[in-house]
Amino acid sequence: MKIRTKFGLFSGGVVMVTVAILATVAFILQRRLIESNMADIRRVQSAGFAAVCRQAITTDNELFMINFAKLLMESPGISYAYYVDGDGRIRVHTDKKYFYKTMDEWKAGRPGGVIETAHPVQVGGSPAGTAVIGFTEEYARGILEQALARTMSHVALTAGLVALAVLPAALLFAVVLTRPVRILAKGSEAVGKGDFTVQVEVNSKDELGDLALRFNDMTRQLAILDELKDEFISSVSHDLRSPMSAVKMYTQYMLFEDPDRDKILPQHRGFLLTIMESATRLGVFVTNMLDAAKIKAGRAEYHVQPMDAGASVKNVRGLFGILAEKKSVTLTEEVPPDLPKAMADPERLDHVVANLVSNSLKFTPAGGQIVVGARAENGKIVLWVGDTGKGISPENLGKLFRRFGQVDVADQRAKRVTGTGLGLYIVKQTVEGMGGRIDVTSELGKGSCFAVTLAAAPPGATVPPAGLHD
Ligand SMILES: Nc1ncnc2c1ncn2[C@@H]1O[C@H](COP(=O)(O)OP(=O)(O)O)[C@@H](O)[C@H]1O
Ligand SMILES: [Mg+2]
Repeated sequence: MKIRTKFGLFSGGVVMVTVAILATVAFILQRRLIESNMADIRRVQSAGFAAVCRQAITTDNELFMINFAKLLMESPGISYAYYVDGDGRIRVHTDKKYFYKTMDEWKAGRPGGVIETAHPVQVGGSPAGTAVIGFTEEYARGILEQALARTMSHVALTAGLVALAVLPAALLFAVVLTRPVRILAKGSEAVGKGDFTVQVEVNSKDELGDLALRFNDMTRQLAILDELKDEFISSVSHDLRSPMSAVKMYTQYMLFEDPDRDKILPQHRGFLLTIMESATRLGVFVTNMLDAAKIKAGRAEYHVQPMDAGASVKNVRGLFGILAEKKSVTLTEEVPPDLPKAMADPERLDHVVANLVSNSLKFTPAGGQIVVGARAENGKIVLWVGDTGKGISPENLGKLFRRFGQVDVADQRAKRVTGTGLGLYIVKQTVEGMGGRIDVTSELGKGSCFAVTLAAAPPGATVPPAGLHD
């Protein structure tokens, strides 16, 4: 759940609970107030009745009392009224049949659901009797409920207005408050993808602003470290290259060119083959490292010129022929004799093919086949490397050409197949840098085919002599 949703729900909850508490308190207070008001009214009415009774007794005018009692009956909510003298005899009653009856007789017939209010009547300073009024409980309750309903509707209206005002304000506040978090999340995502140049812009002078400053410091440090790392790798790779070529060259010489090569012991021949294989693998690896650093720094250069793509195909045999033999994989080439020239950087194209073939060798089991070829197609030159290896699943095809885009890593680790995931990334960057395109078709368990499409050289173009570029 998003923070702003949580915050909105929380403040909404707080508002609702507050309103509920306020409403309850208002309800209880209002109820007490109304009840005490009504009790006051009842007291005043019975005091009035008592005053009338006293007047009637002093003037000996019972009719006055009777008329007043009748009048009382006309006001709503009064059930009965009577005056009882000091001897306990009812003198006047709103119900005529109780005139001059005893209290016991009245109590026997008295209606229920009534709140009685009694007021003493004094004549000349001494108690003469009691004036009593019975108020209908139901009527009192009706009045109370009406008044409370009115109060509650006011409270509900107020609560609604408060919620309407507070909730959007709380949501807005939450959105404003979480903005820096969203910006930081985006920044972290970019760093996660390897972009250390990101700087987030959070200007708030609070903890989040602090965090943003630290974040920016961190990415700056990371960028510096990243650059140091790249420099280190490229200088190490550069220094590794010449010794590696020397190792490869001398091993090759000892194995195939030295006039005394027949004197090599058979077991030493095997060691030398392994040395050459390792040197070839290391050579591709070191060149990949150097290329990756150059591509990242935007310093990759391609000397595109008319060239014989068939030569790149044929170079493969020299580089990987022995390796393929050792792995019992057949490595064949298919180049038509009249292949037109392609537009590419010969050295870089050799490296592209070396990467593709070394992958095929890595992922093709013994008894498999690797075919490297070139052909003219629709005015373009296509260079391809096909194998009968383990193949690539459709969902992994899209991930191949990413930097460090190794797929099926767990499986490869288990089979002790090593790699960096740089090869195909460099292949794609290089091919596209030379104005070409790379495509791959593959079927899991059957094999893969990588095809590099290059522009054909204009007719009549000549291939410049080798060794023009370092
Ligand atoms: N010919 C192939 N057959 C099967 N899988 C391949 C082939 N070429 C490349 N892959 C897959 O693509 C991944 C990336 O290749 P690459 O970029 O050359 O890295 P690396 O060779 O260092 O693993 C490999 O790890 C492998 O899973
Ligand atoms: Mg590779």
